[in-house]
Amino acid sequence: MKKLFAKTAAKTWSKVAQTRELDRKSSPATPRPIEVAVFRRYLKKITPEKRDLKMLILGATPELRDLGIALGYEVLAADFSMDMINVLTSVMKYQGHQRNLIIKGNWLEMDRFFKQGIFDVIMGDAPFNNVLPKDYRKLFLIVKELLKPEGCLIIRQMVVEFSSVKEAEEIERMGQQKRMDWIELFFSIYLGSSKNRIWYSRKTKLVDISKFSYWVENHISEVKSPVKELYKKMVGKMRKGAYHSVLPRKELENLIKKYFAIIKIEKPLNLGLTPIYLLRKK
Ligand SMILES: C[S@@+](CC[C@H](N)C(=O)[O-])C[C@H]1O[C@@H](n2cnc3c(N)ncnc32)[C@H](O)[C@@H]1O
Repeated sequence: MKKLFAKTAAKTWSKVAQTRELDRKSSPATPRPIEVAVFRRYLKKITPEKRDLKMLILGATPELRDLGIALGYEVLAADFSMDMINVLTSVMKYQGHQRNLIIKGNWLEMDRFFKQGIFDVIMGDAPFNNVLPKDYRKLFLIVKELLKPEGCLIIRQMVVEFSSVKEAEEIERMGQQKRMDWIELFFSIYLGSSKNRIWYSRKTKLVDISKFSYWVENHISEVKSPVKELYKKMVGKMRKGAYHSVLPRKELENLIKKYFAIIKIEKPLNLGLTPIYLLRKK
């Protein structure tokens, strides 16, 4: 299991790149416009009035890179899969821009190839969900060291919240009443339903994406329209054989507070299980 998060994982991501949904509007792996708007608000709030602003992106998420470039930053995307970089760069608005930069490398080794204190902002779309829980401290420390004094880290992060777990049927009722599209249903069931005992281990804090995927495929026959159609949209969109690491919200925030001050948390999606954090280096 660990090797899925290790150096060889770059190869797994390269396979993902071959099938990555390039319709960026229809994937849970994509920050939605309402979420990109939160990143934008945070950047507007912190942007210092000075030149030569430098941003590091953990991963190659095109929406975040475009946003940084639009706001005047030099944006460096760091990703250990060159295939993911290439595929995601191909859907960028500013792909040919001189401030659009890339580097191939593992985030957990970035302290070896960058000087300390060089970035104004570091952003990522669920980067911590893609490293093992044991590596969170290391990644927070590396990120902190790479930031300038007063520099900010902005991340979307999947969390679980045991105190507000809901029955799957209750969540599906919201879908039935058209209060959720398939991506919101995806996150709500994946992270926030009591069913997640099947795919989430409280011990390892890992979600087994394959188990969730099989559950969805079997469950489709048990539900009625329009929820059935929402589940059908999930099929084929999940990386079988892969894992996400997901911490309980409080545990994550206690860890964050060791390295960063929490400036703002916004939770744009329904059950609030993909909060976006604005953090300032302590
Ligand atoms: C951070 S998520 C971002 C998902 C993104 N929103 C998208 O649209 O694909 C996944 C990305 O992180 C990269 N990645 C995962 N673990 C990494 C690591 N330890 N070092 C560098 N890149 C990593 C993967 O190659 C992949 O491109």
